Amino acid sequence: MEQNAEKRIEQLRRKIRKHDKRYYVQSQPVISDRQYDKLFAELKALEKDNPELVTFDSPTQRVSGQPLEGFVTVRHAVPMLSMDNTYNPDELRAFDERVGRQLGSSDYDYVVELKIDGLAISLRYEQGVLVTAATRGNGEVGDDVTANVRTIKAVPLKLLDGGKVPAVLEVRGEVYMPASAFAELNRLRDEAGDPAFANPRNAAAGSLKLLDARTTAARNLSFFAYATGELSEPLGENHYQSLQRLKELAIPVNPNIQKAKDINEVIDICLGWSEKRLELDYQIDGMVIKVDRFDQRDILGATGRAPRWCISSKFAAEQAETVVESIDVQVGKSGILTPVANLKPVQLAGTTVKRATLHNFEELERLDVRCGDAVIIEKAGEIIPQVVDVKMDLRPHGAAPFEIPTECPNCGSEAAKDTDGVYIRCVNRDCPGQLKERLKYFAGRGQMDIENLGSALIEQLVEAGLVKNFADLYKLEAGQLAKLERMAEKSASNVTEALEASKTRPLWRLVAALGIRHIGGQSAQILAEYFGSLDALASAELEVLKDIYQIGPTMAESVYEYFRDPKNRSALDEMMACGMKPQRPEKRRTDKLAGKTFVVTGTLEKFSRRRAEEAIRQAGAKASSSVSKKTDFVLAGENAGSKLDKAKKLGVKVINETEFMEMI
Ligand code: IVH
Repeated sequence: MEQNAEKRIEQLRRKIRKHDKRYYVQSQPVISDRQYDKLFAELKALEKDNPELVTFDSPTQRVSGQPLEGFVTVRHAVPMLSMDNTYNPDELRAFDERVGRQLGSSDYDYVVELKIDGLAISLRYEQGVLVTAATRGNGEVGDDVTANVRTIKAVPLKLLDGGKVPAVLEVRGEVYMPASAFAELNRLRDEAGDPAFANPRNAAAGSLKLLDARTTAARNLSFFAYATGELSEPLGENHYQSLQRLKELAIPVNPNIQKAKDINEVIDICLGWSEKRLELDYQIDGMVIKVDRFDQRDILGATGRAPRWCISSKFAAEQAETVVESIDVQVGKSGILTPVANLKPVQLAGTTVKRATLHNFEELERLDVRCGDAVIIEKAGEIIPQVVDVKMDLRPHGAAPFEIPTECPNCGSEAAKDTDGVYIRCVNRDCPGQLKERLKYFAGRGQMDIENLGSALIEQLVEAGLVKNFADLYKLEAGQLAKLERMAEKSASNVTEALEASKTRPLWRLVAALGIRHIGGQSAQILAEYFGSLDALASAELEVLKDIYQIGPTMAESVYEYFRDPKNRSALDEMMACGMKPQRPEKRRTDKLAGKTFVVTGTLEKFSRRRAEEAIRQAGAKASSSVSKKTDFVLAGENAGSKLDKAKKLGVKVINETEFMEMI
């Protein structure tokens, strides 16, 4: 029986993978959904009876059981570059001229693709099995979102072995949310009283960054591949061939890919799609034009930011006309006052828009937006719609210019312009409006993730004078909460339980939650890892902070100042006294250069010596001060002296800064 079960399980998995490929890659399913579900159910039942036969790449194993504590970062083997944009045919022709000039010939083809409006992702397959999925991040380092990406049914957990599967295959592509899934998600969120996502791109990004993969699984994300990263062997001589090869391996590639002989053909294809795009079940924000042949791409190369062999052609943003009913001023968590236009509701790019940001008061003055004005709003792929133009000829008689506030609309304190910027801020650190925003941020998903402590409750708590800082949250008692409007005993105890649970969040979450200016999740992780405790971070000297790899001087100063403020310090002390026990970070996965020894010498351009040594240690290697036979690499900058000579004498490999950056 055991052996039969094993055989049948393998057979079912193979069948399911084949049907997945027919469905997601070829769009030609040959069995009904019901028949598919039957195969799936049989596999599940067999695996349940034979748990020792369950493998990581089985189609049943898409969802992991345990929520993650946070995302680990992954360094991309090949950087994920960005792309230059064009906005009209003339700019496309100029691109083509550059390509022709640099290749010194007119013998090249283009591939024209849809520019899917989602989130770039890199999938790494080793021996045909999906091992990591990472977001683009800053192009060099992204977040490890493997658990979430595994739930996307269009992403094969195992490549199909019709033919040889490369030992290492990195696939790059776009995770997106189909329009139908987006509409359904927002309908459910509305029912549940959750705020709607502004657009499918935002929803896709939000769904991939969830710590609980079970929620991601319910979001119906999908995927199209458009490039490769690291490869153990080439998939073809050109891009078009290599995409065909990806399809054979069961990786979905967008079907609307076209070869074009010259730029006129490219322009025709792009113009065609600017209308046809509305028929698609996903959003695209333009087209991508790529030189097809890889040898020609090598000749063209890349600037630091983007390859020279590829360009996007962006569609004109969708616009709508509506009326400004009023203008509000909102206070942010650091006191910035932002003008927001309340609009007569209007449909734009698939969503209903009721509000639009005016960014800041300089922008408001520049546009001269007034209450009652007819305005043009636009969503140019951005999340938040914005006012781009005022129809002056339609301005109602007597509409007065908006008065720039001189005091905070929330607390009435003075509002002052930043000395070095365009923002106007409420100068009162105890402004209840700011406090509310700081608390909302503190409790938010990306920070302390305190369930049940939502915006409405935070507003009530501040208004009732129960909470004046973060520490006060932890002094709340269920009895007190239950007395608030719309709170029952059960919901009150849910809140205190959630607060209790948040006391043991990882340290980086607490650091991020403090809302220190310039410090987001990623830099909080770096700081938490470096210092290991809040005490050590709080007492760090400015010079030490400045020298940490990936922490810039602005961030360092901001952290330093935050912890020099007695009010901040006492709130933190109180919080600790309430039993806050942030978890020490585990060391990051850094086996990349494990066991290697480096010596840094000379003057480097991009790093101080200490920063370079810090980066070496973060990559798991040792930084030593003297060169010996045991040294693996000498990183030599300008004016390197005796250490460089010694390295040459001993035959130790000498590397420059660029090579070093590639290694780490
Ligand atoms: S190629 C070197 N092809 O657009 C550039 N990108 O604005 C490699 N995108 O980060 C990207 N559809 O997330 C490429 N067919 C397509 C694309 C595409 C969407 C995204 C991608 C990239 C962004 C650049």
